[in-house]
Amino acid sequence: MSREAEKRLAAAKAATLVEDSMRVGLGTGSTTAYLLAELGARPVRAVFVATSPATEQAARSFGLEVEPFGANARLDLAIDGADQVDEDGWLIKGAGGALTREKLVAASTDRFVVIVDSSKLVASLHAPVPVEILAFGASSTLHRLAPCELRDVAPSPDGGLIVDYLGEVHEPGALASRLSTTPGVVEHGLFAPSLVSEVLVGIGETVRRMVVRGEHD
Ligand code: A5P
Repeated sequence: MSREAEKRLAAAKAATLVEDSMRVGLGTGSTTAYLLAELGARPVRAVFVATSPATEQAARSFGLEVEPFGANARLDLAIDGADQVDEDGWLIKGAGGALTREKLVAASTDRFVVIVDSSKLVASLHAPVPVEILAFGASSTLHRLAPCELRDVAPSPDGGLIVDYLGEVHEPGALASRLSTTPGVVEHGLFAPSLVSEVLVGIGETVRRMVVRGEHD
């Protein structure tokens, strides 16, 4: 099975979790793109919140109803991809640069479901860790974050610059604290297990469900 087929399988499984009248957060990336196609093909009448302009546009093109985040901040469910998933349920996210909005949505839902292909499972997390920083004072923030690299991409929809932290990730919790407390950092792509309800992993022709914190903690 190819990685794309595994992504599609995980996305199809996640689509079955969406029910009428739910408010559902939609992530960003290629695995989420399969989810949008699945949702577009189902007669489900949910309302969606998108984590990026690209997801919003794609969701609308599939006929999904998208509303701004904030009209009613609490979500019933959110579904998103990830770049890496370790055995404890720590994630690295943000290869697509949407990490800040993705974390806000993940933190605002009762159930955060991550969809990945099997290549995303890792024994331990490793660089790069995407980080969004303020444009103001960017040089000094980059100096504090070293080793890191400014990504050559457009600013985020919120005006932040995307940086890849390139150091060791031995202790994700310690690194998350360090990144969160670095002046100039808006958000980082380390997602703690406390945010994650479950991970649906496409493996060959099956989907493995990895429960991280239970569905309604
Ligand atoms: C977007 O900023 C990212 O967090 C994505 O969710 C993550 O990179 C997974 O993307 P793919 O589904 O394309 O692998």
